Amino acid sequence: MKNVAILGYGTIGSGVYQVIRQNNSHVSRRAGDEVRVKYVLDIREFPGDPVESVLVHDVEIILQDPEVDVVVEVMGGTKPAYDFVKRAILAGKSVCTSNKELVAKHGAELLRLAKERNINFFFEASVGGGIPVIRPMSSSLTPDHIEEISGILNGTTNYILTKMTEEGLPFDTVLKEAQEKGYAERNPEADVEGYDACRKIAILASLAYEKQVDFEDIYTEGISAITKEDLEYAGSLGGAVKLLGMARKDNGKVVAMVAPFLVSGDSPLASVRGVFNAILVRGDMLGDVMFYGKGAGKLATASAVVADVIEAIRKNGRTDEVFWSEEKRELGSVDAFSTRYLVRIKGTGRMEEIEKAFGEVEYLKPVAGGETAFLTESMTGKAFREAVGDMELISRIRVL
Ligand code: HSE
Repeated sequence: MKNVAILGYGTIGSGVYQVIRQNNSHVSRRAGDEVRVKYVLDIREFPGDPVESVLVHDVEIILQDPEVDVVVEVMGGTKPAYDFVKRAILAGKSVCTSNKELVAKHGAELLRLAKERNINFFFEASVGGGIPVIRPMSSSLTPDHIEEISGILNGTTNYILTKMTEEGLPFDTVLKEAQEKGYAERNPEADVEGYDACRKIAILASLAYEKQVDFEDIYTEGISAITKEDLEYAGSLGGAVKLLGMARKDNGKVVAMVAPFLVSGDSPLASVRGVFNAILVRGDMLGDVMFYGKGAGKLATASAVVADVIEAIRKNGRTDEVFWSEEKRELGSVDAFSTRYLVRIKGTGRMEEIEKAFGEVEYLKPVAGGETAFLTESMTGKAFREAVGDMELISRIRVL
């Protein structure tokens, strides 16, 4: 018998409890031993819920019970999650978490502490919800140097952009729907302003480039400034606007950012719709590989957490090797990041001025009056700012 304790009975926690109970014989067979949930920790009461029989309110009961083999942390945030997880690991219990804030900030340290104790710290569900991407980074893509990762890492914003594009609905209506469906974070700013995607690309970049990438260092833009017109220009080019988390090696330095990108219709990322996530990884030997699936939602995310629980039980005293050191990686400046831009400026008939500043450009048929829209050649962020000078910019979107 292997005992699991779940910290937090919110959306994901109740999903983990459901998956372990509903698929119990399958989960147990895959784990090689009977798996049961011995405790669920939450400050709330859940009258009439089957969880009542295992509900506890004091984490000490879990941390001090030598029978608990695996702790699932699905509380979110770092306080008190970091303290609970660290103490669980120090007590010799493997930990599986979906908490990207915790992993982005403390992942390297928690991995080291787990390794010192021959146990595991697993976090598959922290990026891409139910999509297996974390384990493949450490177990399948091992021979390759990773040249680039570009991912649709936030289901809520992809859902919003898809609905705005396909149904012409306003931002606020679609955000509300996403929240009702349980995709959005409690604080929608975390999704909409790109903070959620920022933590996820920090985790992926730390794994790909083997040193700690601090999320605070990652240039982050959200989608709140994206308008219907921006989406129409993208559509007229056969592409789509996607919020991407991106990390790439550029002149020996890792550059990472989160921003809306115009993705060409040829890219597999362009057809990723709704709450689905996709992570495109480019290896120097493998070429492109894409991981695709449900990036948010109760059971999809819970499935990935339970997969970690099964793996933690199967490992039985062996630690999976994960190359992510605590040494901080200094990121290259996004000013040096080269890309084409979709640009909209106020005014018409300004071709001469535009071409003088930007060089050769490709004009687009305007979708609104009183503006000029064009695509630039590839240029750095710094060169772009200098070219804009005092022109009145309506919007600018990087092109993947
Ligand atoms: N709010 C997140 C999203 C949940 O929309 O992708 C999964 O991390």
